[in-house]
Amino acid sequence: MHQPDAGPERASASGGARFIPCQRHLFDIPDDVAYLNCAYISPLMKSVVAAGEAAARRKARPWEILPEHFFSEAETARTLFARLVGAAAGDIAIMPSTSYGAAIAAANIDIPRGERIVVLHEQFPSNVYPWREAARRSGAEIVTVPRPADDDWTSAVLAHLAAGTALVALPHCHWTDGALLDLAAIGRRARALGAALFIDATQSLGALPLDVRDVQPDYLVAATYKWLLGPYGMGFLYVAPHRQAGRPIEEHWSTRAGSEDFSRLVDYRDSYQPGARRFDVGEKLNIHLVPMAIAALQQILAWGTADIQASLRAMTDRLEKRLQPLGLTTLPRALRAGHYLGLRFAAGVPDTLAQRLAAENVHASVRGRDAMRVTPHLWVSARDEDRFVELLTRALRQTA
Ligand SMILES: Cc1ncc(COP(=O)(O)O)c(C=O)c1O
Repeated sequence: MHQPDAGPERASASGGARFIPCQRHLFDIPDDVAYLNCAYISPLMKSVVAAGEAAARRKARPWEILPEHFFSEAETARTLFARLVGAAAGDIAIMPSTSYGAAIAAANIDIPRGERIVVLHEQFPSNVYPWREAARRSGAEIVTVPRPADDDWTSAVLAHLAAGTALVALPHCHWTDGALLDLAAIGRRARALGAALFIDATQSLGALPLDVRDVQPDYLVAATYKWLLGPYGMGFLYVAPHRQAGRPIEEHWSTRAGSEDFSRLVDYRDSYQPGARRFDVGEKLNIHLVPMAIAALQQILAWGTADIQASLRAMTDRLEKRLQPLGLTTLPRALRAGHYLGLRFAAGVPDTLAQRLAAENVHASVRGRDAMRVTPHLWVSARDEDRFVELLTRALRQTA
């Protein structure tokens, strides 16, 4: 089995992490709802809803919106996200989605004819379609790493990296079951081969520590509506310094140098705002979503991703242990991200299982073909854990 390095990801699983008690009071979740489905959409904290409501009210009174608000809020969001991934604010661009970040990477990574782009079996489509299209345009080949029988994706990916690899496009953990990849090790091999590294961290960032100084990706994107506990329709893109002179996929006023001065917007300029800001999406100064993302990032940073990961791992470990008598299998502990529990059923996930749970207000999801995806977060209470275990046990007995 591939032995991971001691990096920030490891720190959370080892000693020293603080277990965060249940934080349900920060959310607006009815007592009878057990929501173990953060990988689908996270609920918003009350503080994030308040930020969104205040933002909506502000738009009702536009005469109170000052031009400097736009830029200062975007910079605050950038700074907070940068802190989360160990980057500088100038390395971060504001996105509307994961796929937008992938589109920027696809427009800027040189993929010569006949070279290879490496992805995982059943990888999330926003991290596959852009590469299929890039491969079609350039005459490159997509290489899909098959699901390894031993669940060791890191070794499987490393075995597929060879001369002629132009790009490795991966997640930090598989979106269907949380299988973990050692991105630092993969990053090292990719760099040795001269291959670019694109990371979609949408199903991990906020809950699983990642430091770009260890992984050294060319690009890393995350949408905010899952583990970043933020709004839908927003995300962030880390762009490595050596990629920051690249080509944006749209040209708009606010990415140009000096655009803070609203009176001089028609003094058209060729130069951009510094760093990764040139890649910002149009209307990146989104006065509705940016304040919500800021409120969510502030809380995540206050908790700390290592402590979030340790706390969620404790929760999924407890569930795993309690579900063992049902004969379900799970990934080896060292190979699964702590915020995920993928439950595998010998004969596939029973039809309508997720719907039967949902009918009782207990929520998990099924993605891919084999596993039920259980993804709790800090709002999940001991009672929710009990209800999940009891209901799943009952549903499976009825199915048997
Ligand atoms: C791994 C992963 N990436 C990205 C997304 C969302 O992609 P997009 O922001 O392009 O809609 C999802 C949604 O489920 C996902 O699971």
